[in-house]
Amino acid sequence: MSEPIIVVDRVTKQVHDSSGVLTILHEIDFSLAPRESVAIVGASGSGKSTLLGIIAGLDTPTRGTVRLAGRDLFSVDEDARAALRAAKVGFVFQSFQLMGNLTALENVMLPLELQGRSDARKAATEMLRRVGLGERLGHYPRVLSGGEQQRVALARAFVVEPAVLLADEPTGSLDFATGEKVMELMFDLNRERGTTLVLVTHDRGIAGRCDRQIRIEAGRVAATIAA
Ligand SMILES: Nc1ncnc2c1ncn2[C@@H]1O[C@H](COP(=O)(O)OP(=O)(O)OP(=O)(O)O)[C@@H](O)[C@H]1O
Ligand SMILES: [Mg+2]
Repeated sequence: MSEPIIVVDRVTKQVHDSSGVLTILHEIDFSLAPRESVAIVGASGSGKSTLLGIIAGLDTPTRGTVRLAGRDLFSVDEDARAALRAAKVGFVFQSFQLMGNLTALENVMLPLELQGRSDARKAATEMLRRVGLGERLGHYPRVLSGGEQQRVALARAFVVEPAVLLADEPTGSLDFATGEKVMELMFDLNRERGTTLVLVTHDRGIAGRCDRQIRIEAGRVAATIAA
């Protein structure tokens, strides 16, 4: 078996609130091989988004470690973490986090430009076409529907062909047909480019297409189900 691309080792996340310490994640352990696809499933509030944020290095665990492509995400400084993320990870979160002052096309070009790609415009245009937004290139996020904004966010994540794609409810605000199209795109990336997929989803059909399902209950891994 090849070296894992992601290792989550006893990740615990606690926050302090008015009633004391709240444990959101409790000693989460798993690892993913390159090309693997995994669905993170579980009830609302079980800790799925928090876990994804930690794997992305956007949030820090209280205890435990995450290794991404052999590097410990939390033993390096913020700049190194951001560089590692930019090189390896695409992510789509529940809030789409598009740049409001940039058009759809400019939003998707941005990560390519950060990599110094000279073909940013062409590649971004092509990816927006693939998510069905070829006619919306010059639109700003505020005039796009929720599902369209979600597809721009997906195009932005896909366009760099990341080693790892982290997506939180990627089809949550899409109609069935558009959701299917986006899903095909993700599994195409997985197949064609070997992209490791980590998908948080409430959709059983999507979860069932992944190699593995990890069920989170109240911040713990309750079950791991292989396809
Ligand atoms: N910064 C925080 N402070 C206090 N509580 C928090 C914080 N972040 C998350 N929580 C709580 O931790 C729990 C897990 O949140 P999380 O967003 O990870 O859930 P989720 O599994 O993604 O849920 P959903 O399916 O609804 O998106 C929730 O009960 C949430 O209220
Ligand atoms: Mg969530």
